Order: sequence, then C-alpha cells, then structure tokens
Amino acid sequence: MNKKVIAINSSRRKQNTYGLLQKLKEAMKENNIEVDIVNLFDYEVKDCLGCEQCLRGKCCPHKDDAQALMDKLKEYDGIILSSPIYMGGVSGKLKVFIDRTCKWFHRPELVGKPVLLVATTAASGLKETIKYLEKTAIQWGGFPAGSIGRTVNSLNSPIKSSEYDSFVKHLFKERNEFNPKLNQLIFFQVQKVLAEKILTIDKEYWEHKNWLNKLYYFDCSIKPLNKIFAKGFYKMLSSKVVKVES
Ligand SMILES: Cc1cc2nc3c(=O)[nH]c(=O)nc-3n(C[C@H](O)[C@H](O)[C@H](O)COP(=O)(O)O)c2cc1C
Repeated sequence: MNKKVIAINSSRRKQNTYGLLQKLKEAMKENNIEVDIVNLFDYEVKDCLGCEQCLRGKCCPHKDDAQALMDKLKEYDGIILSSPIYMGGVSGKLKVFIDRTCKWFHRPELVGKPVLLVATTAASGLKETIKYLEKTAIQWGGFPAGSIGRTVNSLNSPIKSSEYDSFVKHLFKERNEFNPKLNQLIFFQVQKVLAEKILTIDKEYWEHKNWLNKLYYFDCSIKPLNKIFAKGFYKMLSSKVVKVES
C-alpha cells in the first residue's frame, strides 16, 4: 500500500456509519490506500474542563487517551472523519474529542492532510453536519477533500468513485498542486491574526513554522480573486484585533 489513512468511527454501535467506513476501506484498497478504522468508543476521552491549559502550551490535566489519539492522527497521510447524525449534529463522543483538540485551532498540527468527511442519518442534518466536520478539519490545518453522506434511503447505495476521487487525488498530489478554497484561506487569516496578537506561544509556533508572512500554510495555487479577498480580510481583521501581552 502506498498511503495510510485513519478513519474515525464515532458511533458506539458498529452499524450504519461503521458499515459505510468498511465499504470505503474496500474502495480505498483498490486505490493502494490502507485504511485503519478506529472506534472512538475504544478510547477514554474525558470532557474538556475549560481550563485552557492546552491553549497556553501546558499539559491537559486529564490523564486519558485524547493526546494519544491526537498523536495517532499525525502519523497518517490522510483522515476520514465520520459521525452518525444525532439531533442534527455530530455524536456527543466526537464533539467531546473535537473539543479536546482545541489547541490545534491555535497551533495546527495536521497541516496539508487530506480529510474526507462522512456522515449517516435517518433523514436530516447531513448538510449542517458535513459543514461542521469540514470546519473542524480546517481548524486542525487539514485539507477537506470531499464528503460522503447517506440517509436510510441511500445507505445501501454503492459508494461512487466520484465521492472519494478528490480525497484519493489529494493523497497522491504534491502540496503545491493543492488549491485551497476561500473558507480555508479565511480561517488561516483568523488563526494568523490570533497568533500575532493574542498568545505568545502561538506566535512562536507560527514563526517557527514560517507561516506569519504567508497567505496559506504552504505554497500552492490560489485563485487571484481569493488572494485579493484573503489579503483584504487579513488587513481588516488585523486592524480590529487589539494586541494582548501574554
Ligand atoms: C441520539 C440519536 C439522535 C439522532 N438524531 C437524528 C437526527 O437529528 N436526524 C436524523 O435524521 N436522524 C437522527 N438519528 C438517526 C441516526 O442518525 C442514524 O440512524 C445513523 O445512521 C446512525 O448511525 P450508526 O448506525 O452509525 O449509529 C439519531 C439517532 C440517535 C441514536
């Protein structure tokens, strides 16, 4: 296998979402991609205490599996992030894990990793949930590359290659061939302004990564209009956020 991908299943029962991940695993095999399916319920992930220690570069007071799982995500070439839809959004288990990754919004550690978003539902909530998963992937520094959604009516439909083509292509592409969308560029500008103005530890991290003078994490093709918009947005935001000494 050429590439290794981790798929996170965040439903306790191994049914609709898990079944979809298994089908996806088979499809990925044909593309020389190995998929490790990880069940979030096999990991102890405690609720965020809200202490913000992780944001300030300190260790999380919790002694559980959250950091080990975060470290595991970093080992893979790509990520499949999945959820059953509960009350119009992601499962509680996944939300708790996402909360625990909060430091990655400030100091992203999954930069450039393609992320495929997967959700299953009885009927409703697909659009909003996929959007939330996409936002999460962007906040981690990842690169959203397609989504697969299923309702009870479409659960047994075979997965079409058009649903995962973008993910596969991004796994094998060079980063300079990536083409970030406007929402990715906007998130990057927000994170950059926070790094410059709020926490010293973030600024040091961004300086070390050489991101502060960039429009995106790495050199890649950006549409001219998006470039202009992102630069203007950065200027506007930077002029509005007051610098805090921390
Ligand atoms: C607590 C809970 C909340 C749910 N909320 C919704 C919902 O808001 N909209 C919907 O259409 N289906 C809802 N469902 C149905 C699930 O999204 C659907 O059955 C999903 O495919 C389950 O995936 P799983 O088999 O991987 O657990 C809910 C199910 C549960 C258990």
